[in-house]
Amino acid sequence: MRAVRCETHGEPESLTVRELPEPVAGTGQAVVRVDAAAVNYPDALIVADRYQVSAPTPFTAGSEFAGTVLSVGPGVENVAPGDTVMGASFTGAFAEQIVVSEATLSPIPHGLSMIDAAAFGVTYRTAYHALVTIGEMRPGDWVTVLGAAGGVGTACVDIATRLGGRVIAAASSRERIEFCRRLGAVEGISYQSENLKERIKTITGSGADIVIDPVGGAHAEQAIRATAWGGRYVCVGFANGEIPRIPMNLVLLKGAILRGFEIRTLADHRPDAVAEATVELARLISEGMRPHVSEVFGLDDAPRALGLIQNRAVRGKVVIDPTM
Ligand SMILES: NC(=O)c1ccc[n+]([C@@H]2O[C@H](COP(=O)([O-])OP(=O)(O)OC[C@H]3O[C@@H](n4cnc5c(N)ncnc54)[C@H](OP(=O)(O)O)[C@@H]3O)[C@@H](O)[C@H]2O)c1
Repeated sequence: MRAVRCETHGEPESLTVRELPEPVAGTGQAVVRVDAAAVNYPDALIVADRYQVSAPTPFTAGSEFAGTVLSVGPGVENVAPGDTVMGASFTGAFAEQIVVSEATLSPIPHGLSMIDAAAFGVTYRTAYHALVTIGEMRPGDWVTVLGAAGGVGTACVDIATRLGGRVIAAASSRERIEFCRRLGAVEGISYQSENLKERIKTITGSGADIVIDPVGGAHAEQAIRATAWGGRYVCVGFANGEIPRIPMNLVLLKGAILRGFEIRTLADHRPDAVAEATVELARLISEGMRPHVSEVFGLDDAPRALGLIQNRAVRGKVVIDPTM
């Protein structure tokens, strides 16, 4: 089978497509034919060896996929050959086949194509929990989304709009803001050229009720300074590479609530919320909600796909289709 291999850590261009033996399912594992694999921000970090956890070379890049179960190993109870599934793993998804623990697989929500399912799992679940479980969003809330044109950002704009929020999309260009408006944002701020704090205050009057931040850096403090009293700031990630440090007097003066979470570990702490999100996201899908997939690439073009993420050029999600 073909797979996108990282043989030495480095830039996306260092990735090479190789022919590998087909994987075999061990105890508790399933082999899945990858029909689509989402490209996520951490994939480029793992290839460059700049992620929190190092992946020893050589490895197959890619961490999120949707596909069809081909075979299962001993002790597997919840999936069978022929099932269509979506899943996540640290590496291995940019390939024609992947072997994973059955525990990492879940059924594809009714109505999603393979491309949609690959693009949906991590970003939409992250966005839902950021807004609802952690951010405690209510209809009518002013919701400021930083990095709004990216993967998590577009999912936040989409879900918040559907749940009755008034979304302010913050992104690096007018063109990216226009894209977010088409997804439901009612206002936009170009945080490269406009004053984020002043613009949020002008738009909302009393400040943002919620800030969702997958970007970090200097924008975080500006956004917290523009929250309403008791506003919630949800830390989701640090796409700009800089972990913000927030003066605690802001928290005191504004009665602000600063929270964060990690989708990988949320189920350990809030299984109730994870179950609720599954039901609620399925409902939103049945009403027509779909991830925005801007481009689909073959395995040979995986470096280009990762390069788009690195260069802040992705709108929504890009997906790899191993059959292309
Ligand atoms: N907490 C969790 O469980 C969780 C789950 C998923 C993802 N994450 C994290 O959330 C972050 C965003 O993920 P994503 O999938 O939305 O990524 P993405 O699709 O690449 O979007 C990130 C956005 O951040 C903005 N950005 C600002 N400075 C940037 C820089 N220096 N480099 C790249 N982008 C920059 C870009 O928009 P503009 O150019 O418009 O500013 C870009 O669209 C990542 O750090 C990821 O690891 C966390």
